This record gives sequence, structure tokens and C-alpha cells, in this order.
Amino acid sequence: MTVRPILIHPDPRLKKVAEPVTAITDELRATAADMLQTMYEAPGIGLAAPQIGLLKRMLVMDCVKDPDLPARPMVLINPEVVWASESTNTYEEGCLSIPDQYADVVRPAEVRVRWTDLEGAAREEHFTGLWATCVQHEIDHLNGRLFIDYLTPLKRQLITRKMEKLKRERARM
Ligand code: NI
Repeated sequence: MTVRPILIHPDPRLKKVAEPVTAITDELRATAADMLQTMYEAPGIGLAAPQIGLLKRMLVMDCVKDPDLPARPMVLINPEVVWASESTNTYEEGCLSIPDQYADVVRPAEVRVRWTDLEGAAREEHFTGLWATCVQHEIDHLNGRLFIDYLTPLKRQLITRKMEKLKRERARM
């Protein structure tokens, strides 16, 4: 397994709509394992394939935050929200592609998501709490949407400028 470099906003690849996965290959399984390792190492609770520069509809997540509970690494291929609650939740979200920036985002509190797993089986699950927020945030990545796109243009610009500065600093190192 390899930790992959995570793209930092602004990057045109983070704004693209990712292509559906058409075949579950050994290469795709290896990429999923890399993505999980990259996410855990960051550390983060979710990572979408476009964040490592792969424009495919695949994401990984594990929202178990309690270190006393077993980890629950999940890989979702071609995920789709098939139902969303009318009730909403506000979470202070962050993103591995937008380091150290956090902002409140309002989303449906519960969602039902359908996806394909790494064995090619169809799966469906009802997500609540942090899992619901995380899966929606990651599916947004597959559609070229970042959490800052929910903010006012002014806030978004401010964060984007900070990220441009961060990228310049990193490039000099
Ligand atoms: Ni993100």
C-alpha cells in the first residue's frame, strides 16, 4: 500500500465530474487500499478518488472516531444518494484538499446511499450523523463540488487565496 499525494485546492481536477467505474479490477482494489491508507494517515474520515487525481466515481470513508471501537473502512464505488431526509444537520466541515480550513455546512441529516462494493455486489445503507455528512461531502467530490462551494463567494475567495499561498509555500520547500 502507498500513501498517495492529496491534491490541494485550487486544482482543475477537483472541479471535474468523475467518470463511473465500469470494471472492478485488481488495480482498482489496490487504489482503494492506497486511498484508505492515505485517508488514515492524513488523518481524515473520508477521501474521494479525484483528490488523488483519479477521476473515477469511488470514495473511501471511516467515521468511527472512538479509538476503543473497531475501525470500519468502507469503499463505495459509483455511490448514489437514493433518498435524503427533509431534516437537516449543520456540521463544521473540513477537507483534506483544503487543509486547516473549517466552515459550517447544512446538509440533509440522513441519506440512503446505493453503491457497488469491491466484490461487485450492490449495497445500500441508511446513513445518519457524521456518516451522513461525510458520505454527502465525498459524493460531492465526485461531482466536482467542494464544501466551500456552499459558502458565500467572499468566504470561498478568502479560503482559496489562503490555499494558493499554501501551495506556493509548499512549492518552495
Ligand atoms: Ni473533502
